[in-house]
Formats: sequence, structure tokens, C-alpha cells
Amino acid sequence: MTVPSAADPPAARRALLKLSGEALLGERPYGIDPDVARRLAREAAAAHADGIQVAIVVGGGNIFRGLAAASSGMDRATADYMGMLATVMNGLALQDALEQAGAPTRVMSAIAMNEICEPYIRRRAVRHLEKGRVVVMVAGTGNPYFTTDTAATLRAVEIGAQVILKATRVDGVYDADPEREPGAQRYTHIGYTDVLAHRLQALDATAVSLAMDNRMPIVVFDMRVDGNILRALRGEMIGTLISDEVPA
Ligand code: GTP
Repeated sequence: MTVPSAADPPAARRALLKLSGEALLGERPYGIDPDVARRLAREAAAAHADGIQVAIVVGGGNIFRGLAAASSGMDRATADYMGMLATVMNGLALQDALEQAGAPTRVMSAIAMNEICEPYIRRRAVRHLEKGRVVVMVAGTGNPYFTTDTAATLRAVEIGAQVILKATRVDGVYDADPEREPGAQRYTHIGYTDVLAHRLQALDATAVSLAMDNRMPIVVFDMRVDGNILRALRGEMIGTLISDEVPA
């Protein structure tokens, strides 16, 4: 029997996978790379086939970056709503890829657009998961000024997920920007308060404090490595685990 170490993420029966919009870019400057969407979907579908309940929150930065538009003069709330609409396109692309990979999928939106997808209703989302459907949650929280990381944390807490798996382009949380500081060290396990106190850029502070208040563990990992999404969904230790304080 293996004894879980302090740094092991919990084995998830229900996991919330956060995919940034950029995750769908592949090598493109804009939009969705169908090969990347297919690979992500294949791995999520494999976890689903293992009996893991998979909910996905997807961002929209590959199509429209609200913060960037706001910094070049657009009204922030308007820019954020445009970003939310971008997540809906990504969600539909993921649904298509997941269903082609054999996983029945429902898209649920925080902003009503009933002709395109279902409205997000917490109890219905849970029911879909129980019935063996992957649930893709789009349009963030439905509110401007909240990131899709915060939406992912909120939804994870609401649906009673055991863990948030944040798929990114870096292989974890570092003590400095690894692209600028070659000596930057990666944590395998770090406490919420350390992420907040050191303003580490893994997730925004709203998402981290919501996770902390609800003791929701977060795994930050590199989705560009083949098989990592499946490994993360199966609860293998990859990347960095953010959870309660690390024992001294
Ligand atoms: P159960 O009721 O658990 O069987 O779930 P279900 O999703 O299979 O059944 P339902 O009759 O709710 O939905 C059938 C199909 O219609 C599914 O693909 C849903 O995603 C879709 N659907 C349900 N509600 C809406 C909606 O409000 N808007 C859109 N666009 N599609 C919807």
C-alpha cells in the first residue's frame, strides 16, 4: 500500500479541469487548433471512461482577451462580456471534440443563450455528471471583473469537486517568473497563503482565496505534455499542488 504524502493531490471521483483559452491555441496565434482540441478531448474522455466525473471550465483568451482590450481603452465590463462570449465558442468546440472522442457532453452557460446551450443550473450540472456526461461550463461566472480561474473555483466548490486541475503552459508554480529568471524554483506543494503573500502568478488572488476558504486543492500543471491531463485527472502527482499549509 502506498501512503499518500503531504503533497499528494486527492484522488478525484469528481474533478474540475480548468483549460485556459490559450491552451487551445497550439502553435497558432489565434483561434482553436483542432489537433490540440482533439488531444485534450481524448485525454478527458479517457478519464471519463475510467469513471472519473469531469467538469471543465474553459477560458477565452485565444479569441478575445478582456483585460488586454480594457488596457487599451475599452470599458472593462464590456471587454469582459466579450471575453465571456469567447468562452462559449471554445466550449462548443470542446463539446464537439469530446463527443467525437466518445464522451457525452453538455455545455452549460452562466449567461442564458438557450438556443446554443443549456443554462448553468447547479443541481442539473451535478445530475449530468452523475449520469456520466462531461459538463463544460462556459461564460465564466456571468459577471465582469471575475476571471475564469475564479469561475473554475466557484464551480468546483458548488459541484463538490475534490480538486481543481489548472492546465497551463508552465509546469507548476515557481518562486519567480521562470521565463525571466533561469534560477526560479518550482514548488511541488505550496500553501494558499504563500501563493497570496508572495503574489505568485499561478492564479488570481480572488480564485486562490475562494479555494482557501473552501479548502479546495488546486493542481497547476503543464497541459502541453502528452498524457498530463489524464495523469492529473487520475490524481497522479504532477506540477504543483496548492492546498493547506505545508507542514514545516
Ligand atoms: P436528462 O434530462 O438527464 O436525460 O438530460 P439530457 O440533457 O439528456 O436531456 P434534456 O432533455 O435536458 O436535453 C436533451 C438535449 O438538449 C441535450 O443535448 C441538452 O444539452 C440539450 N438542451 C437541454 N436544455 C437546453 C437548453 O436550454 N438549450 C439548448 N440549446 N439545449 C438544451
